[in-house]
Amino acid sequence: MSPPTASTPQPSAEPPPPSCHALKLLKDQTALVTGASSGIGRAIAIALGQAGANVVINFFGQPDKALEVAEEVRRCGTRAITVPADVSDPQQVRVMFERTVDEFGGLDILVNNAGVQLDAAFEDLTLHQWQRVMDVNLTGPFLCAQEAVRLFTKQGVKPALSCAAGKIICISSVHEVIPWAGHVNYAASKGGLMLLMKSLAQEVAPRRIRVNSIAPGAIRTPINTAAWSTREACNDLLKLIPQKRIGEAEEIGRAAVWLASDQSDYVHGITLFVDGGMTLYPGFETGG
Ligand code: BGC
Repeated sequence: MSPPTASTPQPSAEPPPPSCHALKLLKDQTALVTGASSGIGRAIAIALGQAGANVVINFFGQPDKALEVAEEVRRCGTRAITVPADVSDPQQVRVMFERTVDEFGGLDILVNNAGVQLDAAFEDLTLHQWQRVMDVNLTGPFLCAQEAVRLFTKQGVKPALSCAAGKIICISSVHEVIPWAGHVNYAASKGGLMLLMKSLAQEVAPRRIRVNSIAPGAIRTPINTAAWSTREACNDLLKLIPQKRIGEAEEIGRAAVWLASDQSDYVHGITLFVDGGMTLYPGFETGG
């Protein structure tokens, strides 16, 4: 693959929309969000921008959508760049981090969001489907977190910005704990991500690097359109959610802002489930 290039940040002429006047919990911090051109990544990038952070919008194959996200972030008065990279490629990840440091002088928040789902019944699951899901969902967070930890360690704490030297948030899934037939590769990658996150959190805590995960349930995004776009599928899905509604990507964005901010400084090595109760064994509402 050819080495990635990046767009240059453009100031926005538009006044910030009302939502940008909220508490600037992440003022002057820099965040890198992987897979930020659509879905949950997009919502997180915008929410971090609204909270005052400059944002590096990583994308893979959707440059126009990434530019739209950057434009939306800039409307909040912060800076944004778009950087292409396949998160499972060490060289591309390295270049993405170099570009971040060149542009913003450092990094304070990494959101490991990029993820894919390639579903098949177990006996039909190809090695390619297994490998690609592991590469993006597990090797990607490993490579990005490794670059981030090296950078955070070198930077140390910048007290004017945050009491942590850096924050890493992994976007996991309810399937880090809920087994999922027909999605063995995906569930295995998320189960692996959970212990990557917890083991890393234990290792880097003394350096004031905070590591946590968010586990979304069924959120209305392109990754799971088939699960909510027809009435029948939607009814089936709602049976799995005690709150009886599908989540919106902005709800994950808000959780990410809190986890990235000093408001959650003593929260370390946990998975925050944002799932309308999906992990509460909804089948027991009436049985057991
Ligand atoms: C998956 C979605 C699914 C949801 C709840 C997510 O991690 O990406 O496809 O709808 O979990 O099962």
